[in-house]
Amino acid sequence: MNITVIGTGYVGLVSGVCYAELGNRVICVDKDRGKIDTLNAGGIPIYEPGLKELASANRAAGRLSFTTDLAEAVRRSELIILAVGTPPLPSGEANLDYIDQAALEIADAMNGYKIVAVKSTVPVGTNERLGKLIRARTSKRFDSISLPEFLREGSAIQDTLHPDRIVIGADSPSAAATMALLHRPLTERIVVTDIRSAEMIKYASNAFLATKISFINEIANICEKVGADVTQVAEGMGYDSRIGSSFLKAGIGYGGSCFPKDTRALIQIAGNVDYEFKLLRSVVEVNRDQRFNVIRKLETIFGSELNGKTIAVWGLAFKPNTDDVRDSPALDIIQHLVDNGVNVRAYDPIATANFRALFGKSDVVWCDGALDTARGADALCLLTEWEEFSQVDLGELQAALNRPILIDGRNVFKEEHLLGTDFVYYSVGRPSLSQGVKQPIPVLQ
Ligand code: UDX
Repeated sequence: MNITVIGTGYVGLVSGVCYAELGNRVICVDKDRGKIDTLNAGGIPIYEPGLKELASANRAAGRLSFTTDLAEAVRRSELIILAVGTPPLPSGEANLDYIDQAALEIADAMNGYKIVAVKSTVPVGTNERLGKLIRARTSKRFDSISLPEFLREGSAIQDTLHPDRIVIGADSPSAAATMALLHRPLTERIVVTDIRSAEMIKYASNAFLATKISFINEIANICEKVGADVTQVAEGMGYDSRIGSSFLKAGIGYGGSCFPKDTRALIQIAGNVDYEFKLLRSVVEVNRDQRFNVIRKLETIFGSELNGKTIAVWGLAFKPNTDDVRDSPALDIIQHLVDNGVNVRAYDPIATANFRALFGKSDVVWCDGALDTARGADALCLLTEWEEFSQVDLGELQAALNRPILIDGRNVFKEEHLLGTDFVYYSVGRPSLSQGVKQPIPVLQ
């Protein structure tokens, strides 16, 4: 199939490359000339394992190209996929300006029947609105499709080429059949729905996953108080196939470009039809608060007076294997430390540059390696579970730190790692350890 993908952000670029990998001819379009130049020079503007190699193989095979010329790309394609950004407005609602703009440009360029599919996460009703915009501008025939995307950063190619399911929201049976054929090599599990339901599936899925995370984080907070271990609790729960074991990792909460944005947007979507989504509001609130878990633990150790202490921070990305720092818990945690007169030393294997650009403060010492970050610090906080951190020699780490205090916000270390060390160790929802020994569990009334 000849496909145009508009928008070369995460979703657009990964999808474009993967559709090409399936044997289609794909043109990726972006307004940003700099991005297109980078892509045409063999570069990739985002960090995603394996993407660069897959993109160059498909370019070399003549199946993938990059351009700023939207009109020409549309004319040469039967399927147009919109994957432009829908950033949040101050209200939490998605800003649809890029979608609308692209719709008008598609309409003006149409030279025959097209399928126009939306991969961007958009509020219920957007596809219909888009259809109206295009119809008002051209008499050419087209069908609108909602094609929600479920890929995760860091495993985006795997998720796209081996999805759990494909959701196709369509009014036209023939367009739905064409889309099903396109995706059949990826999975047998293709769910065809009406357009509004497909739009809703994306929000509902992300909101549910966010709910699982906030749920297990609250269970973790209770575990700390009753002397239970949340990792054991999650394992015991997860074997129940009705619950499932994924997204039950307690920590300092979710960040990234999707969950924070989509949960707020769904609350707003519900609000627009006079429905208060109370559960999701709590999920968001719990998540906001959970990141301060790390601060509360520092205060348990040092008292509320953190002023003048030196704290090392490992991990700035919102999760490992990405350089994305959008809504990363590290932003709020480091901000709080800096505001309270703490000397912060921070390190991330690849996300430091992005973090500095977003954080915009200079009074943090940005370090080049995990051990170097710990040097002379009164405590170390682990905020992102990069594999590199679990491999650091704890003896060397202890020697580098001024005091062997480790706050593990992602439950990376196990009790046996800490045996024989002097570490005072706090994690999330698990007993704390002092010199490798479990601290007495709370006395229950
Ligand atoms: C998410 C969805 O998984 C994906 O389907 C959607 O298309 C986009 O949003 P992504 O944001 O890339 O993907 O990351 P994901 O791996 O889902 O993690 C999101 C956040 O949740 C991270 O901050 C992660 O640390 C946190 N998380 C995840 C937990 O705290 N505990 C868990 O058990 C799982």
